[in-house]
Amino acid sequence: MSLYATEHPAHQNKADQVVIGLFKDQNKNQHTEALNDNLQKQIEDRFNNKDFTGRSGQQVTLFSENGQQVVCVGLGDNDDFSATALYDTTHKVVTAAAGSRCQSVALYLNAHTFKNIDAEQATKLVTLAASHAAYRYEDTKSFKEDNKHQLERIEVATESNNAEAFRLASGMAKGINATRHLGNYPPNLCTPKYIAKYATEIAHNDDSCEIDILNKKQMKKMGMGALLAVAQGSHNKPKMVVLSYNGADSHKDPIALVGKGITFDTGGISLKPGANMDEMKYDMCGAASVLGTLTAAAESQLALNVVGIVPCVENMPSGSATKPGDIVTSMSGQTIEILNTDAEGRLILCDALTYAGRFKPSAVVDIATLTGACVMALGSHATGLLSNDDELAEQLETAGVNSGDRAWRLPLWKEYDKQLKSNFADMANIGGREAGTITAACFLGRFTKNYRWAHLDIAGTAWNSGANKGATGRPVPMLMQFLLEQAGQ
Ligand code: BES
Ligand code: MN
Ligand code: ZN
Repeated sequence: MSLYATEHPAHQNKADQVVIGLFKDQNKNQHTEALNDNLQKQIEDRFNNKDFTGRSGQQVTLFSENGQQVVCVGLGDNDDFSATALYDTTHKVVTAAAGSRCQSVALYLNAHTFKNIDAEQATKLVTLAASHAAYRYEDTKSFKEDNKHQLERIEVATESNNAEAFRLASGMAKGINATRHLGNYPPNLCTPKYIAKYATEIAHNDDSCEIDILNKKQMKKMGMGALLAVAQGSHNKPKMVVLSYNGADSHKDPIALVGKGITFDTGGISLKPGANMDEMKYDMCGAASVLGTLTAAAESQLALNVVGIVPCVENMPSGSATKPGDIVTSMSGQTIEILNTDAEGRLILCDALTYAGRFKPSAVVDIATLTGACVMALGSHATGLLSNDDELAEQLETAGVNSGDRAWRLPLWKEYDKQLKSNFADMANIGGREAGTITAACFLGRFTKNYRWAHLDIAGTAWNSGANKGATGRPVPMLMQFLLEQAGQ
């Protein structure tokens, strides 16, 4: 499926299906002027007969003289119509279109003067929602032609003043799709090696990107004892992907994004229970969101330098695996008593965070499916946010609100940090039953003292369970919005 901007008025559009939004108050539906007389008349009749009132969520399909479907969607009252409503409405319509046989759809849902949504934001929301709804995972399915997903072309009504918004949103959409692909791809295929190869392709497709992949030997030499302790039970060797995007002067300090890339988390010797263990293939969604954000940055020619650091490791139990009680030395020199091998994310991240310091970053954001406790605290609506810098935390919170991909901040007080005390090493890798999301972040905080840092716990937001099981692409919208705001774009 590809996204296009269209400047044609609705009545000139050649798509199989044209979608327009209609408010309850017919006087506010000026853009129906863009339809031809026949369709305008049909709409008027519907309003007069009251079988279509423009009530929010209502939908009716009309046909133009040449058989084109014109889907009219009720938007309710302009005063109450929110950004979320526009996103959800678009998502619903495109989901239906993607489930029908139509190959192309043109969306005029943003072609209104909204009271609560500016034109650029409306174009962005419609573009993002449409792409999200049209996404299909088909990489490992062999299906009959008949069932094959048909929707190939989505057009979004765009005028010259929001052409840039469309361009940025389609870049974001591409990054979100990359993240969803990586998340959904199965753990036998989505190995550290595969992620490294995927990142190499991103770099080769864009002149502004550079790639460096550290192997086990190099990690050993740098003293990444914590990361290697997680890797040592698996036959799949670890890889540290370093993907840089250079969109600004080379002397400008980069923003570093560090993503947890556990390609499968069995828990190790502290083995997880069997139920739903397949979902631990998503334990690399932090890594996937970093690569997705860099894809989006490159697509939209973001005017910033960004370095993505992605430690990729499989956490397995075996004769060579780490045992509870083992003590390792991290790259920072600090020693760690591994009391639970299932608290592995922080072990690979602490070495990646120390390594990030080498790039003299202006800020570091790590993204990780780190704790089940975060799912208990915030559910799937908000990402957990913890930071040693109030300004950075606020910038991320704002970017979350502006992109509909929200985060909620939790404290990093020293009282919580005390829970990490070990009798035998500088720290333990777990902090007891209480405040699991915070103690995990406190652990990371011991490796991020030299720069501005924020941690995003995406355990609840990176994927959906149940019937709609699948990667969501979060928090790419928040991260990309944050970067755009940093770049003043
Ligand atoms: N990858 C998990 C966190 C997770 C669990 C994400 C469930 C999404 C859903 C992480 O590696 C983990 O196992 N964390 C443990 C930490 C505990 C041992 C301190 C957890 O949350 O139970
Ligand atoms: Mn774990
Ligand atoms: Zn994990």
